[in-house]
Amino acid sequence: AAGGTFQIMGETYRADSWTNVTPKIISNIGKNLHNQQHHPLCLIKQRIINYFYANFTNRSENPIFAVFDNINPVVTTHQNFDSLLIPEDHPSRAKSDTYYVTKDQLLRSQTSAHQEELIIMGFDSFLAVGDVYRRDTIDATHYPVFHQMEGVRLFSESEVFKGVNDPTGLTLFEDTNQIKRTSDKQESHTLDAVKLLEYDLKNTLSSLAHHLFGEDIQYRWVDCYFPFTHPSWELEILYKDEWLEVLGCGIMEQKILLNAGAKNKIGWAFGLGLERLAMKLYQIPDIRLFWSNDSGFLNQFKVEDPETPIAYKPVSIYPQCTSDLSFWIPKDYTENDFYDLVRSVGGDIVEQVTLVDTFLHPKHQKTSHCYRIIYRHMEKTLTQKEVNDVHRQITQAAIDQLKIEPR
Ligand code: PHE
Repeated sequence: AAGGTFQIMGETYRADSWTNVTPKIISNIGKNLHNQQHHPLCLIKQRIINYFYANFTNRSENPIFAVFDNINPVVTTHQNFDSLLIPEDHPSRAKSDTYYVTKDQLLRSQTSAHQEELIIMGFDSFLAVGDVYRRDTIDATHYPVFHQMEGVRLFSESEVFKGVNDPTGLTLFEDTNQIKRTSDKQESHTLDAVKLLEYDLKNTLSSLAHHLFGEDIQYRWVDCYFPFTHPSWELEILYKDEWLEVLGCGIMEQKILLNAGAKNKIGWAFGLGLERLAMKLYQIPDIRLFWSNDSGFLNQFKVEDPETPIAYKPVSIYPQCTSDLSFWIPKDYTENDFYDLVRSVGGDIVEQVTLVDTFLHPKHQKTSHCYRIIYRHMEKTLTQKEVNDVHRQITQAAIDQLKIEPR
């Protein structure tokens, strides 16, 4: 409640009207799965770092990418949004999408939050790995905490045109007053420079995909939009006959470099989701497994060399139990409020929650939602009584905390 205090990573915070982090979410902070030896997220992090260390070195053969994997996930709204030119009215800033600690501090929703500070510190090439937090739906591929790796590489003019036979007349920038932004480039950039950078970026990332998944992997580039890059792309890889988005990337907005004191350089950035990659790479069927302490899961990843191929074998699949919950929703209700409550009360035995029906009562003008909750424990068979107990607790908590009216 507003006014109360709580702690995250040893720091004390005072709740205000923006606070929406839950104790359940806070309990995940500091676990740093990506730094736990032999954890699949750590293995995949190491494989990506190995790729960058081996393939990008300077004259004295030292790696050029600096790695940061222990930056506090509590960041400011400036870091997570403003520094990345995310507009004031962007949906990702809403309380319904992001976990706020206080009005000005939040749990980072993307590792891009660290771009500006690391460039200000003087780094030209870096990888930043960390836990990120988003309020979202509940299913096999979504969990409110997941892990990202950010990559940034800045180039000076001579670095960009290094491979060109005759670089005379080639520049990074052109006169902003005459040149407009197009689908290919930002106003201040030359087309020569961004095309070379696009080539370098796509090459770097498709080689990474081959390093991780082998030469046979099928992938494609899709044009997309981010407020902090232009142009922007997503890399999708073919997974079980479906195109799976694994990373976003693009040419960094020049204003970010200007604000960070690197105005004479241009750069690319990417952000990739470690769970997505690990699920595909190790055939892990459910995102909750990453949080499992079960030795049947963890022991399958105990390899000395992270490059060792591993295919996860489910120890056994326990049955699902399904229960529906219908209620009239109050004013100011958002679906993510319900999902958080289900996470807090039900914990990880909830596999999926779907909104299966919405009904507007013609007379009372009240809306009702029907949610289907699928329960499944990762390590044992749930009894009907256990499921009923949890379902009742969820219903009661929704009445008490969200002021819903059961139907
Ligand atoms: N931060 C973006 C996301 O979380 C990914 C991204 C990073 C895109 C860097 C472009 C550049 O979706």
